[in-house]
Amino acid sequence: MKILFVCLGNICRSPVLEAVLRAHAEKAGLDWEIASCGTGDWHLGHGADPRSRASAQRRGYSLAAHRARQLCAADFRRYDWLLAADRSNLAEIVRRRPADATARVALALAHAGLPQPLDVPDPYYGNAEGFEAVVDLAEAIARAIVARDAE
Ligand code: 4NP
Repeated sequence: MKILFVCLGNICRSPVLEAVLRAHAEKAGLDWEIASCGTGDWHLGHGADPRSRASAQRRGYSLAAHRARQLCAADFRRYDWLLAADRSNLAEIVRRRPADATARVALALAHAGLPQPLDVPDPYYGNAEGFEAVVDLAEAIARAIVARDAE
């Protein structure tokens, strides 16, 4: 299984979604490839946002090795699933999808079978609670995907 999480900047949400699913998959003994990227290009090469790093670290997930990168055409063939943090990034992924794409595209929460909320809200311009909410949602997504796909 190869999964790519996609948000806007690849510094707040998708690095957390990536690290949390990787930890849960490894714990379940699954040899999955999990990565993340952004649709935007403002933060290329940057580490994860310090607020995301702190929220993740408190629950035992390290984002120290993360470097932001942008969604590229090859991602549409390399991965089985491109999982968008929210509906605006989902629309952007679909808009950029090349003709030879093989990856399937979905909202991360919907793919995990979690019907509400639809979006992992963008915490960038908000407060610390928004970053905690990202980790909460990332854990719910990881638990649900691993429980289903580990069978
Ligand atoms: P992310 O958050 O998409 O979860 O990484 C954002 C990061 C940066 C910006 C917006 C959202 N920005 O506007 O620079």
